[in-house]
Amino acid sequence: MCGIVGYVGGNNSIDVLVGGLSRLEYRGYDSAGVAVIDENGVLRTRKRAGKLAVLADDLKSGAIEVSRTGIGHTRWATHGAPTDQNAHPHLGDDGKLALIHNGIIENFSPLKQELLDEGFTFESDTDSEVAAVLLGREYRKTQDLREAFQNVVARLDGAFTLLAVHENEPGVVVGARRNSPLVIGLGDGENFLASDVAAFVEYTRNALAIGQDQIVSITPNKVEVTDFFGSPVEVEPFEIQWDASAADKGGWPSFMAKEISEEPDAVANTLRGRIDADGQVVIPELNGLDELFVDINRIVVIACGTAAYAGQTAKYALEKWAGIPVDVELSHEFRYREPVITPQTLVVSISQSGETMDTLMAVKYASEKGAKTLSICNTQGATIPRESDAVVYTHAGPEVAVASTKAFVAQITALYLFALHLARVRGAQPADVLAEQSAELLAVPAKIATILDESDVVEQLAHWMSDSRAVLFLGRHVGFPIALEGALKLKELAYIHAEGFAAGELKHGPIALIEPGQPVFVVVPSPRGSAMLHSKVVSNIQEIRARGARIIAIAEEGDAAVLPFADTVIRIPLAAPLFEPLLAVIPLQIFAMELAIAKGLDVDQPRNLAKSVTVE
Ligand code: F6R
Repeated sequence: MCGIVGYVGGNNSIDVLVGGLSRLEYRGYDSAGVAVIDENGVLRTRKRAGKLAVLADDLKSGAIEVSRTGIGHTRWATHGAPTDQNAHPHLGDDGKLALIHNGIIENFSPLKQELLDEGFTFESDTDSEVAAVLLGREYRKTQDLREAFQNVVARLDGAFTLLAVHENEPGVVVGARRNSPLVIGLGDGENFLASDVAAFVEYTRNALAIGQDQIVSITPNKVEVTDFFGSPVEVEPFEIQWDASAADKGGWPSFMAKEISEEPDAVANTLRGRIDADGQVVIPELNGLDELFVDINRIVVIACGTAAYAGQTAKYALEKWAGIPVDVELSHEFRYREPVITPQTLVVSISQSGETMDTLMAVKYASEKGAKTLSICNTQGATIPRESDAVVYTHAGPEVAVASTKAFVAQITALYLFALHLARVRGAQPADVLAEQSAELLAVPAKIATILDESDVVEQLAHWMSDSRAVLFLGRHVGFPIALEGALKLKELAYIHAEGFAAGELKHGPIALIEPGQPVFVVVPSPRGSAMLHSKVVSNIQEIRARGARIIAIAEEGDAAVLPFADTVIRIPLAAPLFEPLLAVIPLQIFAMELAIAKGLDVDQPRNLAKSVTVE
């Protein structure tokens, strides 16, 4: 949700900024812009509505030549339409200063009035321009960009990462963060600031994580971090675990196709080093933290969207293996209803980005109320794990396509690992039962690979169904959250109305939607798990089939009971019931992607969306 990058060093900053923005475009793609200080010490700005390619074409005209200092922004509009004027950077101090912003400045309205009253003027409808004009005013008083930042952040409410450059200070970029992401990249004679390490991993894998409410300034050879009052603070160094090629398409037609192909690795890498020779799950990051888990009597899982469906899926395993009641809540609903939280409550947040504002705020709320907090996260050094008592990282690698695929299976994997770790620490299950589950987990990557190898049926189906107006998804037990996820993928990628239902709920209302030809996907549970559950789902299939629905069943190899009632059967390899979601979701992801492709849509950047939603 808005990507920002800043650079100082020996390279041409326009190249570094545009390259960085191309890796951050997943965060928003309504408009893009850069501001650089050219070799004559003049501030030069270019900004354009539309995707980054529009700006990049504009910059090719060569109107801005060599520069060594600059900032760049890719926008997901909050205040003001996606126009050239509302694109960032915004200017202050009579055009000598440029600023970019990610987040929302909640008190922008009274601040704007104050500045208007003083005779300042505005060119855009954005909250961000208010920060730029305010920074310009403070710079005039202080003649020091850092000090001006201190004055400005003291006046702002809301969430923000701000970066700015000023003509009088060539070779310097100053930034500040509160509740929006910002990381430092440490190069050799060059330094970087960005929303995400992907923006600079091509140049350096050495990074520093900046804490909340901190101000940073970079020059080619120096990085200074202070709190909002100017006192120096320690920052945490970390090494980026992947290289630039991991965030490239690598010959695939889209990031999404590449990321789906990486799902076996996403699961295998998340398991690596966490299951010992006896099949017991020992998560190294949780060593010495047993006291967080022994006394808890309840788990509340908080997350949004796909991550919440991962939580809903893992609820069954957490309850079964660890024997603790689990509630799954949408982060944005959680803190607005006075939830009952005690020191015996463990709040588990799930977030691929680690920056989702709704989830971050819910984690902070839970900590304030005395809960213990654990983060399941895919992004090293992100804010949510830093705000939590403990973290279990998913190792899916960078996920660039806006709609989540490989992160989802990695999240379920990490949650299952955590459930097995918890069950062991609390002595909830005998070791052999736990080892059996670990063995099932270790078998998942090869099973996903088989599904990927045999995806032609799904691809064909998607192309045949490209003119569908509505598609329904049904599931029961762990198949229910998978039905919800299948519907979400289809909505966001193919813009088709799609709904997921618990199969048993259909007869309580939604069955009225069924008319002849209505496509319905059904996630069929294994008859080997619960024959009763299986037969109930087969009955549900018959009920809708009798009303003319066109059934696409996702069923395990050898399940013949569905054959008479399904128009199409998509097969998944045999797995114990709790592990079926990790397999059944794959054809649904491929279906949504292929259908979107058949409609000529951009599967990596669906309309209106942004990855990493850093506004509430
Ligand atoms: C859907 C999707 C979103 C995210 C949600 C949470 O495909 O990607 O629903 O799952 O916005 O994002 P994170 O996991 O970054 O907190």
